[in-house]
Amino acid sequence: MAPLIEIAGIGRVYGATNAPVRALNHVDLTIEQGEFVAIMGPSGSGKSTLMNILGLLDRPTGGRYWFDGEDVATFGHDRLAAHRNRHFGFVFQGFNLLPRATAAENVAIPLIYRGLSRAERHPIAVAALASVGLAHRLRHRPQQLSGGEQQRVAIARALVGDPLILLADEPTGALDTETGKEILKLFKLIHGSGRTIVLITHDLSVAQHANRIVSMRDGRVVSHNMIGEARSALVSRMPG
Ligand SMILES: Nc1ncnc2c1ncn2[C@@H]1O[C@H](COP(=O)(O)OP(=O)(O)OP(=O)(O)O)[C@@H](O)[C@H]1O
Ligand SMILES: [Mg+2]
Repeated sequence: MAPLIEIAGIGRVYGATNAPVRALNHVDLTIEQGEFVAIMGPSGSGKSTLMNILGLLDRPTGGRYWFDGEDVATFGHDRLAAHRNRHFGFVFQGFNLLPRATAAENVAIPLIYRGLSRAERHPIAVAALASVGLAHRLRHRPQQLSGGEQQRVAIARALVGDPLILLADEPTGALDTETGKEILKLFKLIHGSGRTIVLITHDLSVAQHANRIVSMRDGRVVSHNMIGEARSALVSRMPG
């Protein structure tokens, strides 16, 4: 069986040819169905660029990407969009909710692209909100919710279409430590129910909840560590 995600020699160059920024440089990565992978690395190392490519939000400027054995370079615009909507859920640091829409309306958005009517969308959105503990906040707007609640709404939106993979870019980055822990617990539950998770984080204590840590530097993957090894490698580099 093909891996869920396989990329080889992926590059991404931004900007004009006279001032190119090489955000990704020959990145190879394989992610199997059911993994929980953390991506770590300093600011500017290419983590978000990689996530955008994995999630079919952006195309690489070089290299190959197979999703479930299929070369996504062969997909046209519509097929790519449909694939993204069907298979990926996204969670961002800043929640990215529509300010004028209620929690339930925000969560239902991915279902609009699937052609479901409002009446069909609503119960599915309600169930997704209930699954993240927000059954009592259906009609609240983002402003009326705490940061942790807003992130739960965003997670419900990411899950509402029953995607294979959850891609999260610093999902706890805007939250206090306690709220971040709650959100992380939710990710572990989601992983426990069989979903594949790719989580970008600066925080080693967050990354340690994954099965594997992928470390990036200057647009390259510099190590793939299983969690125990990753921990001891970092500890050995600490002063004192
Ligand atoms: N749209 C863009 N145009 C030009 N350069 C970009 C663009 N997006 C990112 N870059 C550059 O590509 C490199 C990688 O950026 P990226 O956002 O992937 O880093 P990151 O690891 O996510 O950083 P952070 O931890 O700060 O979010 C950086 O040097 C950045 O300045
Ligand atoms: Mg980033």
